[in-house]
Amino acid sequence: MDRQFPDWEQLYQEQAVESMPWFYKALDPDLERALHQLNLTQGTVLDIGTGLGTQAIALAKLGFRVTATDLSTTAIEKAIEKTQDAKLGILWMQDDILNSRLDQQFDMIVDRGCFHVLPPQRRQNYVSVVAHLLKPSGYLFLKCFSTLETRESGPYRFTPSDIQEIFQSHFHLLSAEETQYYGTLDPIPKALFCILKNF
Ligand SMILES: C[S@@+](CC[C@H](N)C(=O)[O-])C[C@H]1O[C@@H](n2cnc3c(N)ncnc32)[C@H](O)[C@@H]1O
Repeated sequence: MDRQFPDWEQLYQEQAVESMPWFYKALDPDLERALHQLNLTQGTVLDIGTGLGTQAIALAKLGFRVTATDLSTTAIEKAIEKTQDAKLGILWMQDDILNSRLDQQFDMIVDRGCFHVLPPQRRQNYVSVVAHLLKPSGYLFLKCFSTLETRESGPYRFTPSDIQEIFQSHFHLLSAEETQYYGTLDPIPKALFCILKNF
């Protein structure tokens, strides 16, 4: 079944970002735990589909050197406005991950909710772009909806074996845990948090 998504640019122009389902001010608890367990405390991070940039900002505050991108120019403008702390040194950029203009490689990539809104026929395109943007043995932290989520509308849903199959050409799947997509929805959507390592 093809799922319907908003025109992202129009959405960010028209809606208050704090009311969006994915808005979560703090660092995602699953990401926080993964960074701790893997003892990752520094390095370069790309936050794909950053939206209002909450994750990018939280990561920069921890000392990571962050590049944050989104398809929507307005999302990026609003994120810059909210940041107010130029010292964090975040590089904000409008960019379509399926047609990316990025030409640098990162130690880590965070995707909290971008992959699961992409058209299924573009997933392999996404996997190869992301693999090329990551340094060898770099980590991809991926949060997406789980097939345990029963709401009708919203993003695509995945099982751990779906993720294994989609990413296997370029990544080892280290873990895929059932968890939640923290944001503004009640009840909180069921999600997968996956840690993948580039070949
Ligand atoms: C569910 S929101 C998640 C926002 C943010 N990661 C967060 O956790 O708050 C998905 C985001 O992906 C962005 N997006 C959708 N398609 C994209 C693409 N092809 N390239 C980059 N960003 C995209 C949307 O504009 C939106 O901000």
